[in-house]
Amino acid sequence: MILPDNITLKVPATSANLGPGFDLFGLALQAYSTFQISFQYENKFEIFDLNNRQKIDIPEKSNLVRKAFLRTLGKRESPGMQMLYTSDLPTSSGFGSSASALVAGVAAGSYFLKKNQSAALSLQEELEILTELEGHPDNVCPARLGGFIFSSLQSDGKIRYIKKSLPQDLGLAVIIPHYRVSTKKSRSKLPKKYGMNDIISNLKGTIHWMEYLNTGNQDDLLQAIHLDRIHEPYRSKNIPGYFKLQKSLKDLGCHGTTISGSGPGILVYFPQNIKNELIHNIKSIVNRDLQLNQNTDSVKFTEPDYTGLIINENLPAAASCEN
Ligand code: HSE
Repeated sequence: MILPDNITLKVPATSANLGPGFDLFGLALQAYSTFQISFQYENKFEIFDLNNRQKIDIPEKSNLVRKAFLRTLGKRESPGMQMLYTSDLPTSSGFGSSASALVAGVAAGSYFLKKNQSAALSLQEELEILTELEGHPDNVCPARLGGFIFSSLQSDGKIRYIKKSLPQDLGLAVIIPHYRVSTKKSRSKLPKKYGMNDIISNLKGTIHWMEYLNTGNQDDLLQAIHLDRIHEPYRSKNIPGYFKLQKSLKDLGCHGTTISGSGPGILVYFPQNIKNELIHNIKSIVNRDLQLNQNTDSVKFTEPDYTGLIINENLPAAASCEN
């Protein structure tokens, strides 16, 4: 076994669904998770906080980077790893933290294979493993590739995707309530069947999204983000004050909001020309309407990320960490 040099993987956060595109649409954001990995002969796994070097107590089996790494290596001999981790956005808040971890793990596995005289994974192979591990492609594809991505698992097992850019006059902000929602639990509460009007509403929404991306016509965005009937009517119940906040933000001139993934995070869409005004008052409005009483930042302005995963090699060994 050849131990490769240390690598650092930087993976963007993502916002999935974007209203009507349940399990199909995802957008990469300029907020990142960073994973510094050093490979070791001894087959043990340790993870530390990159900022304070304190050990993070999480069993190897529950760590998604490690899980994706081992899945990528298959039955081959695997090295141990020491990993330092930090993230701009909190986990389980609806911004694709599990997808970021899986993307880092599969990429680290592919990198290790290449350094051990095996072929690195093709992009298609990476996307297939990522979708298998995550269960749906809408977060993992933009986390890996950047951009606004429409992705789907085809009947032949392949992942097909269309990558788009957002019009430049669209501003984005993320709202991060301090409480957490489990995606698994949130998915289990969605209906198993939907009425025809609900399905037609979501179909309309996805067409309006595509038209907006192709033409930049804001009327299409306004339609698109409010047409979901598959998940937002149910998940909004987990976010007290969600509809009140939607109204307040519309009164301020925003286009609207969507629940980010399974929530409780929220993605806000606004015309860039009201950004300065929003900077001054959005946080107090969010905290008031969502009844958040928190010192941490509940709002961050952001931009789309069009790069996706970045890997840097040959970084110096991690400084000493505390066990
Ligand atoms: N499409 C998934 C869901 C994304 O809404 O459950 C989860 O982050």
